[in-house]
Amino acid sequence: MFARIARTIGDDIRRGRLRPGARLPGSRRLAESLGAHRNTVLRALAELQAEGWLETAPGRGTFVSARIPAERPRRASELRVPRDPGRVGFALPRASREGPPPSSAPLPMGGGTPDVRLVPTAELARALRRALRDTSLLDYGDARGDVALREALARHVARTRGVAADADDVLVTRGSQMALDLLARSVLSPGDVVAVEAWGYRAAWAALRASGVQLVPVAVDRHGLSLEHLDRVLASHAVRALYLTPHHQYPTTVTLSAPRRLGLLERARRHRFAILEDDYDHEFHYDGRPVLPLASADDAGVVIHFGTLSKILAPGLRVGYVVAPRPVLERMTRARVFVDRQGDLVLERALAELFEDGEVTRHAHRMRRVYHARRDAMATELRAAFGDALDVRVPSGGMALWVRTESAVDVASWAARALERGVFFQPGQRFAFDGRAQPFLRLGFAALDDLERQRGIAILRETWR
Ligand SMILES: Cc1ncc(COP(=O)(O)O)c(C=O)c1O
Repeated sequence: MFARIARTIGDDIRRGRLRPGARLPGSRRLAESLGAHRNTVLRALAELQAEGWLETAPGRGTFVSARIPAERPRRASELRVPRDPGRVGFALPRASREGPPPSSAPLPMGGGTPDVRLVPTAELARALRRALRDTSLLDYGDARGDVALREALARHVARTRGVAADADDVLVTRGSQMALDLLARSVLSPGDVVAVEAWGYRAAWAALRASGVQLVPVAVDRHGLSLEHLDRVLASHAVRALYLTPHHQYPTTVTLSAPRRLGLLERARRHRFAILEDDYDHEFHYDGRPVLPLASADDAGVVIHFGTLSKILAPGLRVGYVVAPRPVLERMTRARVFVDRQGDLVLERALAELFEDGEVTRHAHRMRRVYHARRDAMATELRAAFGDALDVRVPSGGMALWVRTESAVDVASWAARALERGVFFQPGQRFAFDGRAQPFLRLGFAALDDLERQRGIAILRETWR
């Protein structure tokens, strides 16, 4: 009771209903008006006095302390020093200019995003509600990720990719982007040389470079990474790791040929470098069976395999995973604790349930059919709209087409004009290691339905010259 009275009076002071210096009624009158015992009121007043809200003047009564700071927020114009949000009062180191491309256009043809409108959200919501019943998931937990999801992912990579793993071989990350960052921090050292595909994924390069790693490009042709060129790089550099996208080369969509896969594993063993295998859209292969990842044939502990739920489910979930030799996972887990402590264990448990119920597999099957049809439709519609001006090859998998233009077309300006009309796509230049203009563009077909895609292609046609 006394605490409640103290809180009520304290709130009145904080809200300004009782001003500094105001005199309080005597304790007897207060007790009467509050319907409380006088001793209770005296105890409440003593409490407020101890906290500095009230002061007593002997013989005169009890007053609101004159030193209560006004809690009214000051308006910016009252501040003595005007704040300049663009001003930094200390030395900032030089920063990388790498930034994410604009991601919110009405018609995203960015080349790698799924149609998140088709995600089974009702099932996800139910699984999340069930996961929340286990309140231990709201506590600090395993930095490697929820054990149920690690088990589910281990079964998933074993079943779909031929990668033998159990829960202890899996680290759950916030997307594969975090996996790359953790790898660079904990497995590589500043100055280490990492070979990358000369056409590739800028976000991955940026994560590696942020840890002071030096990147060396290796050419890509229609069979994937060129081993001939890799051999020249290996002869001239102490390569510590190779980052690549063997299944559907990003951005050119080609699949690394079988002889090259074996050749790559053999070179990694011989030169003792790590293969950082980014297996980002394994599920979406339309013609024939998906090719198994390098990790499935690794008997020497050279492959660090990582994947993501960004394509099979949704990028906003921020869930990815790494399968790697355990000493690597231990280091990555320790590095993870510094930046993130652990992932979203409630979400991870819910996703584990969706895997266990077969919901993820069912969704992947549904999406494979949808994207397959969208791939074919986009290729047909682009050919109809552009004729020979665009060389449209149909990839055997993935979520985007890699398209060659007549070399007279300035693809970057085309992309800028299209963006003004609401269509986002990436010019080839975005993927080129040397950053030079290229007569290519990547067009995503997965995120748009038929009408949207047709509208997008009409805008591409109207803006291309
Ligand atoms: C080559 C490549 N790897 C990985 C990813 C997925 O990244 P994340 O798992 O961080 O969403 C993408 C997404 O665009 C990608 O294109």
